[in-house]
Amino acid sequence: MSDLPPSADTLARHARLRGVQVSRRILKEAFGLELVLVDASGPLPHRQGGVMTGSSEICRAALFSRDGFARCDRFYRELGASPGPATRACHLGLTAISAPVIVDGAVLGHVVASGFLDPAADPPGAAALAARIAALDPHHRDPASPARDRILLGADRAALARHVLAAAAHEIAAREREVRDRLSGDEELPGLWGMVGASGAMRALFALLARVVKSDATVLVEGESGTGKELVARALHDHGPRGDGPFVATNCGAVPADVLESALFGHVRGAFSGAVQASHGLFGAADGGTLFLDEVGEMAPAMQVKLLRVLQDGSYLPVGGTEPRHANVRVVAASHRDLEQMVQAGTFRQDLYYRLHVLTLRLPPLRDRPGDLRLLLRHMMQEVEGVPTRIGEAALRCLERYRWPGNVRELRAEVERWAITAAGELEIGPEHLSSPLREAGGYTGAAGGEAAVAAAAGHGTLASAVEALERAIIARGLERTEGNRSQLAKELGISRTTLNDRLKRFGLG
Ligand SMILES: Nc1ncnc2c1ncn2[C@@H]1O[C@H](COP(=O)(O)OP(=O)(O)OP(=O)(O)O)[C@@H](O)[C@H]1O
Ligand SMILES: [Mg+2]
Repeated sequence: MSDLPPSADTLARHARLRGVQVSRRILKEAFGLELVLVDASGPLPHRQGGVMTGSSEICRAALFSRDGFARCDRFYRELGASPGPATRACHLGLTAISAPVIVDGAVLGHVVASGFLDPAADPPGAAALAARIAALDPHHRDPASPARDRILLGADRAALARHVLAAAAHEIAAREREVRDRLSGDEELPGLWGMVGASGAMRALFALLARVVKSDATVLVEGESGTGKELVARALHDHGPRGDGPFVATNCGAVPADVLESALFGHVRGAFSGAVQASHGLFGAADGGTLFLDEVGEMAPAMQVKLLRVLQDGSYLPVGGTEPRHANVRVVAASHRDLEQMVQAGTFRQDLYYRLHVLTLRLPPLRDRPGDLRLLLRHMMQEVEGVPTRIGEAALRCLERYRWPGNVRELRAEVERWAITAAGELEIGPEHLSSPLREAGGYTGAAGGEAAVAAAAGHGTLASAVEALERAIIARGLERTEGNRSQLAKELGISRTTLNDRLKRFGLG
């Protein structure tokens, strides 16, 4: 694909847009025509090393011969270079109609349907067409057979088909305009060093970060899983005085306790079986830079003592060694667990906690910073290729009602998912969201249905099925009436008090 001319690349990117697919089907089913995307370099399938699917057997017979292919390709190149909508006869005398895709005043390409004949325009007869096929391919066994497959389309129907082409062209242009806006709109989102956020908690954190970054002090980053702890650790490194030095990260919870010591502090040769060479360990590797100790709360007590020592005087002993080594390393530690509670429970050393706790950055969970959710979404939808550029209000409401146990990481995964679930769409709707999100927004949809089906089959209780349906009906109604409770109560034939009661019960209010 990278060898394609830029416009063909653009057209190819939009070929699967839903609007284009719908136009393709209408043309096929209502008119018997194939839709093809064409630019000044010819039909898109030819640019991609293939052969286009012609509308009729006549087209296909002609495309099968070398000369026919070349002439057809040339015809489309000329059509692809035309400045506006066109109606032309091809080298075989068949008609082609096209609608231009215009973005920023330039014609990017055309959406074309071809291979038919206008009965009112004295079209070539079957015999003439058979002769043309035979001229292109003298070895053709029965040129009269494809010639019988003529598609006749009067001016009225051709005008309709042109509307369908124009709709597809419009869809492509709209999407391309959005993509361009997205690329050129390097809109500065509020935040710091690639971390997005504008909530009070995040602003306070950014202010603290800006001060902490210049120091060499040990920093503890606390926050639930996926809140951005590693991002903060990297930012501290990249933007601090050690930015040119190494950034070394390790997850203390993922390394077995007996391996962690030599992983961190290295070992001398022969320290244990298999230690054929001395190792500097991660403290050695991070010399002059930053060592990020992730999940420090998972560290075994014996290791906690050793870490305390290196934090206090910068010295440590490699496994099997007697000569202390010295580390010029800034340590940033992170934990998704509350270390203070662990100290109280006696599972984390108090002295180490105090040593780490000098500077603590606490990352709030995503559910506690609803304003940031929209900002992060904007950021991620710009970043992730293939995701629609817009999100509808109903989908947004689902996202805002969801609790986000996996925080920003979970949000990122959700957005990446949309590249598949909403491929070719212009806007994200509730149907593209993963089911926990849909459910959070009250779109029990399938789930409500499932509960009802299960109850009908004798599984689950009738009450739970009724409740699931009731919830789905009310949630949909809320979307439909845009939250107008009086109207919804009226529509559902219940009192406002009953509706409010249900809203509360289902967590929708
Ligand atoms: N404020 C933010 N702005 C932009 N992206 C963010 C922000 N916070 C987190 N992310 C993104 O979310 C994802 C998770 O972040 P990160 O790995 O730093 O979290 P973590 O707290 O270390 O998670 P875990 O506890 O699971 O290790 C990353 O893709 C990161 O880039
Ligand atoms: Mg992490």
